[in-house]
Order: sequence, then structure tokens, then C-alpha cells
Amino acid sequence: MSDSDPIVVIDHLTAGYGSRPILQDLSLQIRQARITAVVGPSGCGKSTLFKCIVGLLRPWSGTVRVAGQDLTAMDEDRLPQALARVGLLFQQGALLNSVPVRENVALPLREHTRLEEPVIQEIVRLKLQAVGLSHAIDLLPAELSGGMRKRAALARAMALDPDLLLCDEPSAGLDPPTAADLDALILRLKETFHMTVVVVTHELPSIDLIADDVVFLGRGGTLHFAGPLAEAKTCRVPEVLDFFARRPGTREEGTCSLLDLMRQECEP
Ligand SMILES: Nc1ncnc2c1ncn2[C@@H]1O[C@H](COP(=O)(O)OP(=O)(O)O)[C@@H](O)[C@H]1O
Ligand SMILES: [Mg+2]
Repeated sequence: MSDSDPIVVIDHLTAGYGSRPILQDLSLQIRQARITAVVGPSGCGKSTLFKCIVGLLRPWSGTVRVAGQDLTAMDEDRLPQALARVGLLFQQGALLNSVPVRENVALPLREHTRLEEPVIQEIVRLKLQAVGLSHAIDLLPAELSGGMRKRAALARAMALDPDLLLCDEPSAGLDPPTAADLDALILRLKETFHMTVVVVTHELPSIDLIADDVVFLGRGGTLHFAGPLAEAKTCRVPEVLDFFARRPGTREEGTCSLLDLMRQECEP
């Protein structure tokens, strides 16, 4: 496979919860060894898209292919093996609170490999070093700051050297310097390990810095745009245009100013 080949191919994907559709007829591709930013208003289905890519949520229709394998057609018990090459950094970190950082990072290694204990410990040490958390190896998740939790979760997502790393709002709730560190780390993963990274983010400066491609979802789980960042910036779709011009219409609820909220109240 060359770098320009897609590692994820999503074709006419429709998925939802109960009887409520969230993603509607979505077709897009994620290109290899590039960083793709997934953008869209809160609740539009960005995390749901990730769940479909890792097979946590079965589509109602359409297909999701990861590294050439059709996950939608795969038996549940074959999924873990197919997904061993995919790392997922959950929005909330999803660390196991009862065990120290060391064991959290070792988890995928214990589940997916038969490596000897000293090898596991060495990989854990290297991954924590890569995210700048060597000093926290024996701490419990509750003893970590928000940024440290994110980095510990990232070390775990990287434990098996995935080809594809999915990061769901990695910088949310972090102070700007910590968020910038995380951006630098993600860039390094691409540049050093040719990892394909998909990041849900709303931060325009971060997108400018790290993204090669952009996937823009709209309310109602439809696709507004998918393609290179430079093209996204000249895209005439109003929601995309608003986002890059940073007009209030497409802002995340969490980052709305009081004035934005008052404007929304006045909309018909
Ligand atoms: N497990 C679930 N069960 C039912 N509804 C859900 C579940 N997870 C998310 N949703 C709903 O699906 C919609 C999309 O959610 P999500 O994918 O988390 O959006 P985003 O990540 O873009 O903010 C939201 O309305 C959310 O409330
Ligand atoms: Mg989300």
C-alpha cells in the first residue's frame, strides 16, 4: 500500500442508536500517513463515526473497511484481531481507575500479544517516555491531571504501534500549552512513525498546525466536506465557510460566548 492509499474507506454508512439515525449515508476515505481533522457541531456524530470505525457500533447500512477488511461483514469474535492495528483515544480517556498507569498501558499488550513480562514492561516504559509521562508510571489515574490522563490514554492507544490512531477531542479541557504539546506529539507520530491519525477537534490553530485533510460533518450526521485542508478553506458550503471564518453559527456549544447564546435565542 502506498501512502496515498486510503486506510479507511466508508461507503454509504448509515448508523444510529435505537431507532434514531445519527450518521446518514456517509461516504469518505481516510488517507494513510496523514492527519485528518474531524470537525462538526456538538452532537453531530463525530464520536459515533469513531465507534463505527472500530466496530463498537454496527452500521444500519453501508460498509466500513479498515486496512482492506470489511468490519461490517465480520463476526464479532474476529473484530479484536482485525482492530489490533487501530488505536483509539476515547473522549474521556477511558482509563481503568483501579490500576496504575503502567497497567493501563500494558492492557492492550496483554490482550493481543503473548510477549514476556519484561518485554511488556519495556514497551510500557518506552510509550510513557514518548508521551512525557515516565515519572507517572506508578500513579493511579485519579492522581493524574487532565493533560496527564490524556497522555496516559494516548500511550495506551499507541501500545501496539497502531497503523491508525483515532483521537476523540484529545485537547478538550486542556490548557493551551498542554494542548500544544499534544499537537506536537501527534505530528511527531505521523512524521516519525508514518502513523495515520484521525483527530476530532474544534481548534482552528490546531487544525492549521497538524491537519493534512479535513472531514466536516453537519448537523444530522451528513457530510459537508472531505478532502485536503487547503480545499476545505476555499469550500463554499456555508457551514464550512463559517467554521474557517470563525463565525458563531458553527461553534461548539461549550465555547459559545454569552453573545452567541443570545443570538441563538433570537434566531427564528
Ligand atoms: N450510546 C448512545 N445511545 C443513544 N444515543 C447516543 C449514544 N451516544 C451518543 N448518542 C447521541 O448521538 C448523537 C451524536 O453523538 P456523538 O457521536 O457523541 O456526537 P459528537 O461526538 O459529534 O458530539 C447525540 O445526539 C448523542 O446524544
Ligand atoms: Mg464526541
